[in-house]
Amino acid sequence: MTPTKDKELLDQEKQVAAQAALRWVRDGMLVGLGTGSTAAHFIKLLGQKVQAGELRIQATATSVASENLARQLGIPLVEPHRGLRFDLTVDGADELDPQLNLIKGGGGALLREKVLATASAYMLVIADSSKAVAQLGQFPLPLEVVSFALPWVMDAVAATGGNPVVRMDKNDPNKYAYSDQGNLLIDCHYGHLLNPSELAKQLKTIPGLVEHGLFLGLARAALVVREGQAQVLRA
Ligand code: 5RP
Repeated sequence: MTPTKDKELLDQEKQVAAQAALRWVRDGMLVGLGTGSTAAHFIKLLGQKVQAGELRIQATATSVASENLARQLGIPLVEPHRGLRFDLTVDGADELDPQLNLIKGGGGALLREKVLATASAYMLVIADSSKAVAQLGQFPLPLEVVSFALPWVMDAVAATGGNPVVRMDKNDPNKYAYSDQGNLLIDCHYGHLLNPSELAKQLKTIPGLVEHGLFLGLARAALVVREGQAQVLRA
């Protein structure tokens, strides 16, 4: 299979997962909208339902890109405020293990993604077949870091065995990539994570490291596509 064909097939799987996720959405829900290509499929399908008057929901997005997409599609958006809780957040993932622990942040939105997932009664992951792994860590772990703290965070992360690399701008490889919050992103190459919860604890102690892309115990269910069908996995 050529890489392009592979990409096409995976994109079809993303659409299948996104379509299946619509069944989780009920009238009147407050919904967290994820970020990335799979989440974008979901937002488009949700927008169609809203436009057709088949669903009345309100939403908050995990990135400026998802927010703009939702706005274009006429999905009513809610600003963050005290007491705001979501019935459901639907988001993609870079990796998910059999316990539905995740690596997220490939799209640089891990901070807002974790904020919304944590403020949600239910997090549903939608994923193509390439995302399900036996053990997390093949995908480099993204971190969001305050610019000033970068050198010290790099040292501290290297000491945990992370082999950190600062993410560069996709459109200009001479410039750093920034998150929607104006922070830097670094990608850490640990290899297989034998103890993700211990690593998460260590990372949380590093000053200037705003958030890490390990989502442990947050996802309640996942729709992962296998042989063209969305399979429901539960935590
Ligand atoms: C963005 C994310 C995405 O959910 C993750 O990167 C998956 O993206 P895609 O659906 O494009 O494969 O965590 O920060």
